[in-house]
Amino acid sequence: MAVIRVDIAGAPYDVRVGTGLLTNLAAECGDRLRKRRVPIITDANVHKAWGAVVKTALQQGGHEAVWRILPAGEPTKSWDQLAATVDWLLAEEVERGDAVLALGGGVIGDLTGFAAAILKRGCHFIQLPTTLLAQVDSSVGGKTAINTAAGKNLVGAFHQPALVLADLAMLDTLPLRELQAGYAEVVKYGLLGDAEFFAWCQANGAAMLAGDPALREYAVAYSVAAKARIVAADERETLGLRALLNLGHTFGHALEAQTGFSDRLLHGEGVALGMVLAARFSAARGLLAEADAAAIEDHFTAVGMASTIAALGLNCDGAALVQHMLHDKKMDAGVLPFVLLKGIGEAYLAKDVALTDVMAFLDGELAR
Ligand SMILES: NC(=O)c1ccc[n+]([C@@H]2O[C@H](COP(=O)([O-])OP(=O)(O)OC[C@H]3O[C@@H](n4cnc5c(N)ncnc54)[C@H](O)[C@@H]3O)[C@@H](O)[C@H]2O)c1
Ligand SMILES: [Zn+2]
Repeated sequence: MAVIRVDIAGAPYDVRVGTGLLTNLAAECGDRLRKRRVPIITDANVHKAWGAVVKTALQQGGHEAVWRILPAGEPTKSWDQLAATVDWLLAEEVERGDAVLALGGGVIGDLTGFAAAILKRGCHFIQLPTTLLAQVDSSVGGKTAINTAAGKNLVGAFHQPALVLADLAMLDTLPLRELQAGYAEVVKYGLLGDAEFFAWCQANGAAMLAGDPALREYAVAYSVAAKARIVAADERETLGLRALLNLGHTFGHALEAQTGFSDRLLHGEGVALGMVLAARFSAARGLLAEADAAAIEDHFTAVGMASTIAALGLNCDGAALVQHMLHDKKMDAGVLPFVLLKGIGEAYLAKDVALTDVMAFLDGELAR
C-alpha cells in the first residue's frame, strides 16, 4: 500500500492506495466514523458491484451502512439531486463532525463533496473512488461541483475530503472504456511535468490497463502524488500552477460540448484528444518538436484509444468548437489561457493565444 499526504494548509489528509482497502473499511476510517449508522452515497452500478462488500466491512466494525443510491451518470450532478441529497443528510441527522462516505466515480465524489461542503456549512466526507479517473484525479484536491443549464461544473465549492481510500480492486469491475478514459489523466501528469513518467507510460501503460496490480498501484500512487504536490502549492488555482492540470481540457471540453456531454465521448477520452490537440497546436507554433507531438498521439493509439478528432465524425467547423471555449470557466477578462507544451514534461500557461489561430488550427485538424 502507498500513502500520500496531501499537505493543504489547515486541512491535510491522506490518500491510501492499495488492493483490498474496502474490505477493511471500518478500520481504515477509524474514529472518523463516530456513530453506528454511516451515510453512504453511491450510484446504482457501483452499489451493485460493491455494495455487499461495503455493507459487510462496516458491519465488522459495528456499523450499519445507510445508503443513498443515485442513478449512474453525469445528469446526477444536478441541482435537484444536490437538494435531495442534502435533505436526506439532514433527515439522517448528520452533524458537522460526522463523515459522509462517497462511493463512486467523479460524479458521486463531486456531488457528495458539494453536499458535504454546504451541509451545516460543512461536514466531513471520505472519498472511496471507484473509477481510475476518480482515483488519480477527482477524489484528490477538493474541487466539488454540479452542472447547471449554463454548463458543467459551474456551481461548486472547494472542500477537501478527510481521507481518500483508493482500492485498486474496484478497478476490476470497471468497463475497459472507463479505464482507458481515466488513463488519459494518468498520462497527463507525465506530459505536464515529468518526461520520465511519460516514458514509463509508454513502456507500461498497456500492461497496466490489462490489469497488472503492481503497475496499477504505481500509476495511481504516482498520479496522486503528482496532483497532491500541485494542489498543496496552489489549492485555489490562483498561482497558475494548478491550472497546468487543465492540460488538454480546454480542447477536450469543447469536444465534450460538441458531442453533448454524452456517451459519444467520455471526459477522459476528450482529455486524451485534447492533449493531442494541445501538443499539435504547440508544435504548429514551433514550441514543441513534431516528433514529441507524434509520440503522444501514437501512445494513445497504442493503448487502444482514439487519437484524432477526425475519427469522432463531428459535423462542425473550428468556429463551432471555439464558440464552446468562450463559455469556459477559465475565461479571464476576455483572455482564455491555454496549457501548451514546450517539451514533454514541460507544460506552461499561455495567455497570448488568439482564438482565430485556434479556429484555423481546428479547421485543419477536423479535415485531417
Ligand atoms: N473534482 C475534480 O477535481 C474532478 C476532476 C476530474 C473530473 N471530475 C468530474 O468527474 C466526473 C467523471 O467521473 P468518472 O469518469 O469517474 O465518471 P462516473 O462517476 O460517471 O463513473 C463512470 C461510470 O462507471 C461506473 N462505475 C464507477 N465505478 C465502477 C466500478 N468500480 N465498477 C463498475 N462500474 C463503475 C459508474 O456507475 C458510471 O457509469 C465528471 O463529472 C467530471 O466533471 C471532477
Ligand atoms: Zn479531467
